[in-house]
Amino acid sequence: MIDVDGFYESEGEADVPPGQAWQAWRVKILPEPAFRALGGHEGLSGAQLAYLAAFGLLAPTSHNTVPQRFEPIERRSELRVWLDRRAVLPESDSCGRQATISVGCVVANIEHAAHHYGLAVELEVLDTPLEHTHPARDGEPTLVPLVSMRFSRGSEAPPRRAGAGADLLALMKRRKMVRARFDEAVALGSEVAEELRAIARELGGLELHLLTDAPTLLFLGKFQELADSTVFNRAGFARELGQWTLANDDPSAVGMRGWEFGLSDEAARHFSRGLRGEATLLPDEVAGMAKTANIGMRSASAVGVITVERDDLVHRIAAGRAYEGIALCSLRHGLVASMHAAITEVEAPNMALRGRLRTRRRPEVVFRLGRPKLPEDGMRPHASRPLLSSLLLPEG
Ligand SMILES: Cc1cc2nc3c(=O)[nH]c(=O)nc-3n(C[C@H](O)[C@H](O)[C@H](O)COP(=O)(O)O)c2cc1C
Repeated sequence: MIDVDGFYESEGEADVPPGQAWQAWRVKILPEPAFRALGGHEGLSGAQLAYLAAFGLLAPTSHNTVPQRFEPIERRSELRVWLDRRAVLPESDSCGRQATISVGCVVANIEHAAHHYGLAVELEVLDTPLEHTHPARDGEPTLVPLVSMRFSRGSEAPPRRAGAGADLLALMKRRKMVRARFDEAVALGSEVAEELRAIARELGGLELHLLTDAPTLLFLGKFQELADSTVFNRAGFARELGQWTLANDDPSAVGMRGWEFGLSDEAARHFSRGLRGEATLLPDEVAGMAKTANIGMRSASAVGVITVERDDLVHRIAAGRAYEGIALCSLRHGLVASMHAAITEVEAPNMALRGRLRTRRRPEVVFRLGRPKLPEDGMRPHASRPLLSSLLLPEG
């Protein structure tokens, strides 16, 4: 058993509630000698691999399902990232796209953490069949390995990556989805835009489209609203979302609390119960949720669309890696991000988006960037996470 307790401090920032469910955000950023002191002589020790995984736990995941599991393999200085298919959602993610993009975000954080400690990373997306990332049916294995990451300390420093910087670990601890109205007056500078595009380009097979003109944002807002109302009105989707949308005082380590959407305790409880079918949500209330996303899009400094050559495991992982790199780099420039999966999952808006981008490539990740109109919206509490120790798999 790797002892991970020493990775954490007792107090976090103001937006980190007390308790185990927020321990992940209280991870210490170890100075280089302290990281080395965790280690063995040759390769990386289990404790060092687990410490890198602690940053993978801070990555965003769809519905905060936290589907990643970590297998530290000490003798090869390797960390394997697995997918727990019990966390792949049958209604909203029947082909595992959102879960595998999430694992890509996790991988990005681990890579950045490794680079921070001067380690080179050899990354391999394993050839797990795509069907094995779908929700598990009876009798199928629930855990599948997706990515192998091997670390080494070469004589030379790893090459500088787009968006890199010594502040990345601190940015990971600050990053969160900010599902709020943004300030229309804040523009995305052209240098920042170029830096963000470079992050996607570097990963191969991806392209980042940044849309900033008001008519396009208006159009995207409408399509997002259409996509959201389509899915909210599907009974199965709403029930599933209801299971992952929590009251503010829920102790769960996974799922999303109402306060992350700016909801009061009462509204959070009402929406959660309404989506689960335990209370009645009025048509206006459902329409209001979809409208909120529309307003969010319209107020953004930019809407980003990551398109992929092919919708396979390699490109999904790459899209997640790119998204997370972009979110962290944007945060450095004072911009927060919010993701909008429905527009990529529902076929009609996805096709419309392709038309607007004049591309045959598939829009895989859609998000908006901006600065919250009300600064307090950026200070909403972080989402909870399970304890790192509960996500570590025994070697082999
Ligand atoms: C692949 C992916 C898809 C997501 N889709 C949505 C979405 O459609 N709407 C939304 O509000 N949040 C979406 N999120 C954000 C997650 O709900 C969020 O990351 C999770 O609740 C954890 O919160 P945190 O990112 O603030 O730590 C998505 C995240 C990922 C990685």
